[in-house]
Amino acid sequence: MDDRGLMLQVDDIHTYYGESYVLQGISLGVPSGTVMAVLGRNGMGKTTLIRSIIGFTKPRAGRIIFEGRDITPLRSHQIVSLGIALVPQGRRIFPSLTVRENLTLGEKPPGANGRGEAWNLDLVLDLFPRLKERLSNTGNKLSGGEQQMLAFARALMTNPRLLLLDEPTEGLAPLLVRALGDILLKLKERKLSILLVEQNLKFALQFSNHVHILNRGRVVHSSSPEALDKNHEVKARFLGV
Ligand SMILES: Nc1ncnc2c1ncn2[C@@H]1O[C@H](COP(=O)(O)OP(=O)(O)O)[C@@H](O)[C@H]1O
Ligand SMILES: [Mg+2]
Repeated sequence: MDDRGLMLQVDDIHTYYGESYVLQGISLGVPSGTVMAVLGRNGMGKTTLIRSIIGFTKPRAGRIIFEGRDITPLRSHQIVSLGIALVPQGRRIFPSLTVRENLTLGEKPPGANGRGEAWNLDLVLDLFPRLKERLSNTGNKLSGGEQQMLAFARALMTNPRLLLLDEPTEGLAPLLVRALGDILLKLKERKLSILLVEQNLKFALQFSNHVHILNRGRVVHSSSPEALDKNHEVKARFLGV
């Protein structure tokens, strides 16, 4: 961790797809043990931010610091092995593997600086009881909501210190959104550091300690969730609500 207590520090990154200039100088930090929300409409660069952090699409300029270490030059698998887990948008699980296989494939003990109780299959299944009933089902037999739970549970099995969630509530029925919220709350109580990308404003406001809004590859607003909730102009202008 760096001297300001940041788990993750994104320092003026510029990310491109070919000639397309998408992230135009993004800086933000995730303080240790907090939930940081990144909001913004479709196509504003939220997933590209996640891809830049995890190393799928490297920024052309700027740096990404994780626990005080510059991870910008590292490859994705190295970044993951340092303790960052991703629940990607669209819940990429392995359709032909069983729930149990999906969960145990990426299982990792907590890292040297890991704090608190480590996640294992039993603990994760306590958190996601629905998956317990489906352990021997293959991924493609699960409902969309169950697949999202599985993607989430699988990320926890790697015992991350930073969790990246890319629109976890997308396409979920209200009941499942609430279930996901309960889980997020439990992780927050355990002081897991989380970067939560969302379009669901209400959900993000409910669980985050701090919010950023992305617009066309730039951070256009940063505040507490309470302050954003009261700022009707910013909400209308950048989130269309
Ligand atoms: N693989 C890609 N190649 C080219 N352009 C892309 C690619 N992925 C995303 N983009 C473009 O980058 C911009 C940001 O996309 P994205 O980060 O997915 O936005 P968000 O997650 O906020 O919806 C969009 O204009 C999108 O069309
Ligand atoms: Mg996206």
